[in-house]
Amino acid sequence: MTEAQFPDGFLWGAATASYQIEGAVQEDGRGQSIWDTFCRQPGKVQDGATGDVACDHYHRWRDDIALMRELGLQAYRFSVAWPRIYPFGSGPLNEKGLEFYDRLVDGLLDAGIDPMITLYHWDLPQALQDQGGWANRETAEHFEVYARTLFERFRGRVKKWVTLNEPLIVAQFGHLAGVLAPGIRSHATTARVAHHLLLAHGLAVQAFRDMEMEGEIGITNANTAYEPYDDTPDNLAACELARDFDSRLYHDPIFGRGYPASVLKFYAERGAPFPIEPGDMLTIATPIDFLGVNNYSRRVVMADNRPIGFRFAPPTLPIQPMGYEEAPHSLGDFVRWVSREYGNPPIYVTENGSGDEDGPEADLLHDQKRISLLKGFLTGLAGAINEGCDVRGYYVWSLMDNFEWAYGYSKRFGIVYTDYETLERKPKASARFYADVIRNNGF
Ligand code: FCB
Repeated sequence: MTEAQFPDGFLWGAATASYQIEGAVQEDGRGQSIWDTFCRQPGKVQDGATGDVACDHYHRWRDDIALMRELGLQAYRFSVAWPRIYPFGSGPLNEKGLEFYDRLVDGLLDAGIDPMITLYHWDLPQALQDQGGWANRETAEHFEVYARTLFERFRGRVKKWVTLNEPLIVAQFGHLAGVLAPGIRSHATTARVAHHLLLAHGLAVQAFRDMEMEGEIGITNANTAYEPYDDTPDNLAACELARDFDSRLYHDPIFGRGYPASVLKFYAERGAPFPIEPGDMLTIATPIDFLGVNNYSRRVVMADNRPIGFRFAPPTLPIQPMGYEEAPHSLGDFVRWVSREYGNPPIYVTENGSGDEDGPEADLLHDQKRISLLKGFLTGLAGAINEGCDVRGYYVWSLMDNFEWAYGYSKRFGIVYTDYETLERKPKASARFYADVIRNNGF
Protein backbone atom coordinates (compact mmCIF):
# COMPACT_ATOMS: atom_id res chain seq x y z
CA MET A 1 0.00 0.00 0.00
CA THR A 2 1.28 3.47 -0.77
CA GLU A 3 1.44 6.04 1.99
CA ALA A 4 1.87 9.13 -0.15
CA GLN A 5 0.98 9.35 -3.82
CA PHE A 6 1.80 12.33 -6.04
CA PRO A 7 -0.01 13.69 -9.10
CA ASP A 8 0.97 12.52 -12.58
CA GLY A 9 3.77 14.61 -13.99
CA PHE A 10 5.06 15.63 -10.55
CA LEU A 11 8.76 16.43 -10.94
CA TRP A 12 11.37 14.79 -8.72
CA GLY A 13 14.80 16.34 -8.39
CA ALA A 14 17.74 17.22 -6.20
CA ALA A 15 19.41 20.54 -5.48
CA THR A 16 22.92 21.90 -4.96
CA ALA A 17 24.65 25.30 -5.07
CA SER A 18 27.83 26.39 -6.82
CA TYR A 19 30.07 27.33 -3.90
CA GLN A 20 28.95 24.30 -1.91
CA ILE A 21 30.04 21.73 -4.52
CA GLU A 22 32.16 23.11 -7.36
CA GLY A 23 35.63 23.77 -5.94
CA ALA A 24 38.08 24.90 -8.68
CA VAL A 25 37.90 28.42 -7.32
CA GLN A 26 40.95 29.59 -9.23
CA GLU A 27 40.15 27.90 -12.49
CA ASP A 28 39.26 29.19 -15.93
CA GLY A 29 39.17 32.82 -14.96
CA ARG A 30 36.74 32.62 -12.03
CA GLY A 31 36.87 35.77 -9.89
CA GLN A 32 36.82 35.85 -6.10
CA SER A 33 33.52 35.60 -4.28
CA ILE A 34 32.59 36.85 -0.82
CA TRP A 35 32.74 33.24 0.36
CA ASP A 36 36.39 32.89 -0.68
CA THR A 37 37.07 35.93 1.46
CA PHE A 38 34.87 34.94 4.39
CA CYS A 39 36.38 31.45 4.64
CA ARG A 40 39.80 33.03 5.07
CA GLN A 41 38.78 35.13 8.03
CA PRO A 42 39.82 33.25 11.17
CA GLY A 43 37.00 31.78 13.19
CA LYS A 44 34.25 32.35 10.66
CA VAL A 45 33.94 28.82 9.27
CA GLN A 46 34.18 25.66 11.34
CA ASP A 47 37.62 24.00 11.19
CA GLY A 48 38.81 26.73 8.84
CA ALA A 49 37.10 24.91 5.96
CA THR A 50 36.84 26.50 2.50
CA GLY A 51 35.09 25.72 -0.77
CA ASP A 52 38.44 25.54 -2.61
CA VAL A 53 37.87 21.87 -3.46
CA ALA A 54 34.43 21.13 -1.99
CA CYS A 55 33.05 18.14 -3.96
CA ASP A 56 35.24 18.98 -6.96
CA HIS A 57 32.07 18.98 -9.03
CA TYR A 58 33.76 21.36 -11.49
CA HIS A 59 35.84 18.40 -12.67
CA ARG A 60 33.47 15.57 -11.78
CA TRP A 61 30.25 16.91 -13.25
CA ARG A 62 30.06 14.09 -15.79
CA ASP A 63 30.14 11.45 -13.06
CA ASP A 64 27.65 13.47 -11.06
CA ILE A 65 25.21 13.46 -13.96
CA ALA A 66 25.72 9.70 -14.28
CA LEU A 67 24.89 9.42 -10.58
CA MET A 68 21.74 11.49 -11.01
CA ARG A 69 20.74 9.22 -13.83
CA GLU A 70 21.38 6.14 -11.75
CA LEU A 71 19.04 7.52 -9.09
CA GLY A 72 16.43 8.28 -11.72
CA LEU A 73 16.36 12.03 -11.03
CA GLN A 74 14.08 13.89 -13.39
CA ALA A 75 15.28 17.36 -12.46
CA TYR A 76 18.33 19.07 -11.02
CA ARG A 77 18.54 22.49 -9.41
CA PHE A 78 22.00 24.06 -9.33
CA SER A 79 23.32 27.59 -9.12
CA VAL A 80 25.64 29.51 -11.40
CA ALA A 81 28.63 31.17 -9.76
CA TRP A 82 28.35 34.83 -10.73
CA PRO A 83 32.16 35.29 -10.40
CA ARG A 84 32.73 32.62 -13.05
CA ILE A 85 30.66 34.65 -15.52
CA TYR A 86 31.68 38.17 -14.51
CA PRO A 87 34.88 37.78 -12.46
CA PHE A 88 34.48 41.34 -11.16
CA GLY A 89 30.69 41.23 -10.98
CA SER A 90 30.38 43.66 -13.86
CA GLY A 91 32.63 44.53 -16.79
CA PRO A 92 34.48 41.82 -18.70
CA LEU A 93 32.59 38.61 -19.40
CA ASN A 94 34.43 35.32 -18.91
CA GLU A 95 33.52 33.00 -21.75
CA LYS A 96 35.22 30.03 -20.07
CA GLY A 97 32.82 30.31 -17.15
CA LEU A 98 29.84 30.16 -19.47
CA GLU A 99 31.36 27.14 -21.19
CA PHE A 100 31.40 25.17 -17.95
CA TYR A 101 27.65 25.63 -17.53
CA ASP A 102 27.15 24.89 -21.25
CA ARG A 103 28.71 21.48 -20.72
CA LEU A 104 26.71 20.87 -17.57
CA VAL A 105 23.38 21.91 -19.10
CA ASP A 106 23.96 19.89 -22.26
CA GLY A 107 25.00 16.89 -20.19
CA LEU A 108 21.80 17.14 -18.15
CA LEU A 109 19.64 17.49 -21.24
CA ASP A 110 21.35 14.48 -22.84
CA ALA A 111 20.58 12.51 -19.69
CA GLY A 112 16.93 13.60 -19.83
CA ILE A 113 17.27 15.66 -16.64
CA ASP A 114 15.45 18.99 -16.49
CA PRO A 115 17.83 21.77 -15.36
CA MET A 116 16.72 24.52 -12.98
CA ILE A 117 19.20 27.39 -12.62
CA THR A 118 19.45 29.52 -9.50
CA LEU A 119 21.09 32.80 -10.50
CA TYR A 120 22.25 33.75 -7.02
CA HIS A 121 23.00 31.28 -4.25
CA TRP A 122 25.16 33.54 -2.10
CA ASP A 123 28.53 33.74 -3.92
CA LEU A 124 28.60 37.46 -4.72
CA PRO A 125 31.68 38.61 -6.64
CA GLN A 126 34.07 40.13 -4.09
CA ALA A 127 34.65 43.11 -6.40
CA LEU A 128 31.00 44.08 -5.91
CA GLN A 129 31.25 43.65 -2.15
CA ASP A 130 34.19 46.06 -2.27
CA GLN A 131 31.73 48.61 -3.65
CA GLY A 132 29.19 47.97 -0.90
CA GLY A 133 27.69 44.67 -2.07
CA TRP A 134 23.93 44.34 -1.75
CA ALA A 135 23.79 47.52 0.32
CA ASN A 136 24.66 49.34 -2.92
CA ARG A 137 21.74 49.71 -5.32
CA GLU A 138 24.07 49.26 -8.30
CA THR A 139 24.54 45.60 -7.37
CA ALA A 140 20.91 45.02 -8.38
CA GLU A 141 21.64 46.64 -11.75
CA HIS A 142 24.74 44.48 -12.26
CA PHE A 143 22.63 41.47 -11.36
CA GLU A 144 20.23 42.29 -14.17
CA VAL A 145 23.09 42.35 -16.68
CA TYR A 146 24.37 39.02 -15.37
CA ALA A 147 20.85 37.54 -15.54
CA ARG A 148 20.38 38.73 -19.12
CA THR A 149 23.69 37.11 -20.10
CA LEU A 150 22.55 33.75 -18.76
CA PHE A 151 19.05 34.03 -20.22
CA GLU A 152 20.53 34.67 -23.67
CA ARG A 153 23.05 31.87 -23.36
CA PHE A 154 20.60 29.24 -22.14
CA ARG A 155 17.52 30.34 -24.06
CA GLY A 156 15.56 27.25 -25.14
CA ARG A 157 17.78 24.93 -23.11
CA VAL A 158 16.94 25.90 -19.52
CA LYS A 159 13.24 26.37 -18.83
CA LYS A 160 13.24 26.84 -15.05
CA TRP A 161 14.92 29.78 -13.36
CA VAL A 162 15.19 30.90 -9.77
CA THR A 163 16.39 34.47 -9.32
CA LEU A 164 17.58 34.36 -5.70
CA ASN A 165 18.06 31.73 -3.07
CA GLU A 166 16.73 32.81 0.31
CA PRO A 167 17.11 36.59 0.45
CA LEU A 168 16.04 36.36 4.13
CA ILE A 169 19.17 34.41 5.00
CA VAL A 170 21.42 36.73 3.01
CA ALA A 171 19.98 39.78 4.76
CA GLN A 172 19.61 38.41 8.29
CA PHE A 173 22.53 36.05 8.61
CA GLY A 174 24.95 37.80 6.26
CA HIS A 175 24.25 41.38 7.33
CA LEU A 176 22.58 41.38 10.77
CA ALA A 177 23.85 38.31 12.64
CA GLY A 178 27.02 38.35 10.54
CA VAL A 179 27.49 34.59 10.66
CA LEU A 180 27.46 34.12 6.90
CA ALA A 181 29.39 36.08 4.24
CA PRO A 182 30.00 38.97 4.10
CA GLY A 183 29.77 38.90 7.90
CA ILE A 184 28.30 42.36 8.50
CA ARG A 185 26.27 43.28 11.61
CA SER A 186 24.12 46.32 11.02
CA HIS A 187 20.41 47.10 10.96
CA ALA A 188 20.92 49.85 8.41
CA THR A 189 22.70 47.50 6.04
CA THR A 190 20.10 44.74 6.51
CA ALA A 191 17.19 46.87 5.29
CA ARG A 192 19.18 48.10 2.29
CA VAL A 193 20.29 44.58 1.43
CA ALA A 194 16.78 43.14 1.67
CA HIS A 195 15.41 45.84 -0.61
CA HIS A 196 18.17 45.62 -3.20
CA LEU A 197 17.92 41.85 -3.32
CA LEU A 198 14.21 42.06 -4.03
CA LEU A 199 14.84 44.80 -6.58
CA ALA A 200 17.43 42.58 -8.28
CA HIS A 201 14.86 39.81 -8.38
CA GLY A 202 12.27 42.12 -9.98
CA LEU A 203 14.74 43.45 -12.55
CA ALA A 204 15.64 39.90 -13.56
CA VAL A 205 11.98 38.87 -13.91
CA GLN A 206 11.33 41.95 -16.05
CA ALA A 207 14.33 41.09 -18.22
CA PHE A 208 13.02 37.54 -18.60
CA ARG A 209 9.75 38.95 -19.91
CA ASP A 210 11.41 41.58 -22.14
CA MET A 211 13.55 38.90 -23.70
CA GLU A 212 10.50 36.73 -24.27
CA MET A 213 12.15 33.79 -22.60
CA GLU A 214 10.47 30.44 -22.84
CA GLY A 215 9.90 28.75 -19.49
CA GLU A 216 9.23 29.75 -15.91
CA ILE A 217 10.88 32.08 -13.42
CA GLY A 218 10.40 32.46 -9.69
CA ILE A 219 12.15 33.17 -6.39
CA THR A 220 13.14 30.79 -3.61
CA ASN A 221 12.51 31.88 -0.06
CA ALA A 222 13.66 30.39 3.23
CA ASN A 223 10.62 29.34 5.16
CA THR A 224 10.05 28.12 8.63
CA ALA A 225 6.54 26.98 9.48
CA TYR A 226 5.51 29.16 12.42
CA GLU A 227 3.14 27.84 15.04
CA PRO A 228 1.65 29.95 17.83
CA TYR A 229 2.51 28.64 21.30
CA ASP A 230 -1.20 28.60 22.11
CA ASP A 231 -4.26 30.43 20.91
CA THR A 232 -4.19 33.34 23.33
CA PRO A 233 -4.46 36.63 21.42
CA ASP A 234 -0.92 37.66 22.41
CA ASN A 235 0.71 34.52 21.12
CA LEU A 236 -1.39 34.50 17.96
CA ALA A 237 -0.32 38.09 17.29
CA ALA A 238 3.32 37.19 18.01
CA CYS A 239 3.13 34.37 15.49
CA GLU A 240 1.82 36.76 12.83
CA LEU A 241 4.66 39.12 13.64
CA ALA A 242 7.23 36.36 13.13
CA ARG A 243 5.59 35.65 9.78
CA ASP A 244 5.85 39.35 8.89
CA PHE A 245 9.60 39.49 9.53
CA ASP A 246 10.58 36.17 8.04
CA SER A 247 7.95 35.27 5.47
CA ARG A 248 5.80 38.23 4.45
CA LEU A 249 8.80 40.54 4.11
CA TYR A 250 10.00 38.42 1.18
CA HIS A 251 6.63 37.39 -0.24
CA ASP A 252 4.28 40.38 0.13
CA PRO A 253 6.26 42.70 -2.20
CA ILE A 254 6.55 39.93 -4.81
CA PHE A 255 2.78 39.60 -4.78
CA GLY A 256 2.24 43.36 -5.03
CA ARG A 257 1.42 44.05 -1.39
CA GLY A 258 4.44 46.13 -0.47
CA TYR A 259 6.42 45.53 2.70
CA PRO A 260 4.62 44.57 5.93
CA ALA A 261 3.90 47.69 7.97
CA SER A 262 5.38 46.11 11.12
CA VAL A 263 8.73 45.58 9.40
CA LEU A 264 8.86 49.06 7.85
CA LYS A 265 8.14 50.55 11.28
CA PHE A 266 10.79 48.46 13.03
CA TYR A 267 13.56 49.53 10.67
CA ALA A 268 12.38 53.14 10.43
CA GLU A 269 12.52 53.42 14.23
CA ARG A 270 16.11 52.28 14.08
CA GLY A 271 17.01 54.92 11.54
CA ALA A 272 17.38 52.23 8.90
CA PRO A 273 14.55 52.75 6.42
CA PHE A 274 14.10 50.65 3.30
CA PRO A 275 15.70 52.65 0.45
CA ILE A 276 12.61 52.50 -1.78
CA GLU A 277 12.74 54.64 -4.92
CA PRO A 278 9.76 55.45 -7.14
CA GLY A 279 8.81 52.46 -9.28
CA ASP A 280 10.73 49.91 -7.19
CA MET A 281 7.69 48.22 -5.72
CA LEU A 282 6.18 47.76 -9.19
CA THR A 283 9.42 46.25 -10.45
CA ILE A 284 9.55 43.87 -7.48
CA ALA A 285 5.93 42.87 -8.12
CA THR A 286 6.53 41.81 -11.73
CA PRO A 287 4.49 38.60 -11.83
CA ILE A 288 6.41 35.38 -11.30
CA ASP A 289 5.53 31.94 -12.63
CA PHE A 290 6.15 29.95 -9.46
CA LEU A 291 7.23 30.25 -5.88
CA GLY A 292 10.26 28.25 -4.77
CA VAL A 293 9.78 26.91 -1.25
CA ASN A 294 12.68 25.84 0.97
CA ASN A 295 11.60 24.35 4.27
CA TYR A 296 13.43 22.34 6.91
CA SER A 297 11.48 22.80 10.11
CA ARG A 298 8.99 24.67 12.26
CA ARG A 299 9.24 27.12 15.14
CA VAL A 300 6.85 27.78 17.96
CA VAL A 301 6.33 31.48 18.58
CA MET A 302 5.42 33.36 21.77
CA ALA A 303 4.81 36.98 22.62
CA ASP A 304 7.74 38.83 24.08
CA ASN A 305 8.06 42.35 25.37
CA ARG A 306 11.40 42.99 23.70
CA PRO A 307 11.03 45.56 20.92
CA ILE A 308 10.42 43.06 18.15
CA GLY A 309 7.41 41.55 19.98
CA PHE A 310 8.03 37.83 19.57
CA ARG A 311 10.43 35.09 20.51
CA PHE A 312 10.79 31.40 19.86
CA ALA A 313 9.64 28.93 22.48
CA PRO A 314 12.13 26.31 23.61
CA PRO A 315 12.04 23.27 21.30
CA THR A 316 9.90 20.37 22.40
CA LEU A 317 10.76 17.94 19.62
CA PRO A 318 14.12 16.19 19.10
CA ILE A 319 16.78 18.49 17.63
CA GLN A 320 18.65 17.89 14.39
CA PRO A 321 22.38 18.66 14.21
CA MET A 322 21.62 21.97 12.49
CA GLY A 323 19.53 22.97 15.48
CA TYR A 324 16.25 22.32 13.70
CA GLU A 325 13.43 20.56 15.48
CA GLU A 326 12.48 17.27 13.88
CA ALA A 327 9.11 18.43 12.66
CA PRO A 328 8.42 16.92 9.26
CA HIS A 329 4.85 18.24 9.28
CA SER A 330 6.43 21.67 8.71
CA LEU A 331 6.66 21.28 4.94
CA GLY A 332 2.97 20.57 4.34
CA ASP A 333 2.04 23.21 6.91
CA PHE A 334 4.13 25.90 5.28
CA VAL A 335 2.88 25.02 1.80
CA ARG A 336 -0.71 25.26 3.04
CA TRP A 337 -0.02 28.63 4.68
CA VAL A 338 1.72 30.17 1.69
CA SER A 339 -0.91 28.83 -0.73
CA ARG A 340 -3.70 30.33 1.33
CA GLU A 341 -1.94 33.60 1.89
CA TYR A 342 -1.02 34.28 -1.77
CA GLY A 343 -3.85 32.86 -3.85
CA ASN A 344 -2.56 29.36 -4.53
CA PRO A 345 0.52 30.07 -6.69
CA PRO A 346 2.32 27.25 -8.49
CA ILE A 347 5.04 25.96 -6.15
CA TYR A 348 8.23 23.98 -6.48
CA VAL A 349 9.75 22.74 -3.26
CA THR A 350 13.27 23.82 -4.19
CA GLU A 351 14.91 22.46 -0.99
CA ASN A 352 13.97 20.12 1.81
CA GLY A 353 15.93 17.49 3.67
CA SER A 354 17.92 16.88 6.80
CA GLY A 355 21.50 17.12 7.97
CA ASP A 356 23.68 14.68 9.87
CA GLU A 357 26.65 15.44 12.01
CA ASP A 358 29.86 14.08 10.47
CA GLY A 359 30.80 10.66 11.88
CA PRO A 360 31.68 7.09 10.91
CA GLU A 361 31.01 6.44 7.24
CA ALA A 362 29.11 3.20 7.86
CA ASP A 363 26.59 4.98 10.08
CA LEU A 364 26.22 7.86 7.71
CA LEU A 365 25.53 5.52 4.79
CA HIS A 366 22.82 3.82 6.81
CA ASP A 367 20.73 6.99 7.23
CA GLN A 368 17.45 5.66 8.54
CA LYS A 369 16.67 8.92 10.30
CA ARG A 370 16.84 10.84 7.01
CA ILE A 371 14.51 8.31 5.40
CA SER A 372 11.96 8.62 8.17
CA LEU A 373 12.10 12.42 8.04
CA LEU A 374 11.76 12.42 4.24
CA LYS A 375 8.74 10.16 4.58
CA GLY A 376 7.23 12.61 7.03
CA PHE A 377 7.96 15.64 4.85
CA LEU A 378 6.56 13.94 1.74
CA THR A 379 3.46 12.69 3.54
CA GLY A 380 2.69 16.25 4.62
CA LEU A 381 3.36 17.56 1.14
CA ALA A 382 1.08 14.98 -0.48
CA GLY A 383 -1.62 15.98 2.02
CA ALA A 384 -1.29 19.65 1.06
CA ILE A 385 -1.52 18.73 -2.62
CA ASN A 386 -4.63 16.67 -1.94
CA GLU A 387 -6.16 19.72 -0.33
CA GLY A 388 -5.57 21.68 -3.51
CA CYS A 389 -2.12 23.28 -3.15
CA ASP A 390 -0.53 23.60 -6.58
CA VAL A 391 2.84 21.93 -5.96
CA ARG A 392 4.56 20.85 -9.17
CA GLY A 393 7.81 19.32 -8.01
CA TYR A 394 10.25 18.58 -5.20
CA TYR A 395 14.04 18.95 -5.09
CA VAL A 396 15.69 17.20 -2.17
CA TRP A 397 18.57 19.02 -0.47
CA SER A 398 21.03 17.78 -1.32
CA LEU A 399 22.29 15.53 -4.05
CA MET A 400 25.48 14.96 -2.06
CA ASP A 401 27.19 16.03 1.15
CA ASN A 402 28.83 19.39 0.58
CA PHE A 403 30.25 22.58 2.07
CA GLU A 404 27.61 23.63 4.58
CA TRP A 405 28.56 27.33 4.82
CA ALA A 406 29.71 28.36 8.30
CA TYR A 407 29.55 24.71 9.41
CA GLY A 408 32.17 23.75 6.85
CA TYR A 409 32.06 20.02 6.17
CA SER A 410 30.76 19.08 9.62
CA LYS A 411 27.12 18.78 8.52
CA ARG A 412 26.09 16.34 5.84
CA PHE A 413 22.85 16.92 3.95
CA GLY A 414 23.43 14.58 1.00
CA ILE A 415 21.41 11.57 -0.01
CA VAL A 416 24.81 10.62 -1.42
CA TYR A 417 27.84 10.46 0.85
CA THR A 418 30.93 12.43 -0.16
CA ASP A 419 34.28 11.05 0.96
CA TYR A 420 36.27 14.27 1.27
CA GLU A 421 39.61 12.37 1.13
CA THR A 422 39.02 10.54 -2.14
CA LEU A 423 36.07 12.63 -3.37
CA GLU A 424 34.27 9.40 -4.04
CA ARG A 425 30.46 9.55 -3.93
CA LYS A 426 28.51 6.74 -2.29
CA PRO A 427 24.73 6.61 -2.34
CA LYS A 428 23.26 6.41 1.17
CA ALA A 429 20.23 4.30 2.04
CA SER A 430 18.15 7.46 1.56
CA ALA A 431 19.29 7.70 -2.07
CA ARG A 432 17.89 4.21 -2.68
CA PHE A 433 14.70 5.21 -0.90
CA TYR A 434 14.44 8.37 -2.98
CA ALA A 435 15.03 6.46 -6.22
CA ASP A 436 12.07 4.26 -5.28
CA VAL A 437 9.94 7.30 -4.52
CA ILE A 438 10.71 8.64 -7.98
CA ARG A 439 9.97 5.32 -9.66
CA ASN A 440 6.65 4.95 -7.84
CA ASN A 441 5.74 8.64 -7.77
CA GLY A 442 5.28 8.20 -4.05
CA PHE A 443 5.99 5.55 -1.46
C1 FCB B 1 19.55 26.38 3.00
C2 FCB B 1 20.52 26.77 1.91
C3 FCB B 1 21.32 25.62 1.36
C4 FCB B 1 21.76 24.68 2.46
C5 FCB B 1 20.58 24.28 3.32
C6 FCB B 1 20.92 23.28 4.40
O1 FCB B 1 19.25 27.48 3.79
O2 FCB B 1 19.84 27.36 0.83
O3 FCB B 1 22.40 26.14 0.62
O4 FCB B 1 22.75 25.28 3.22
O5 FCB B 1 20.01 25.41 3.90
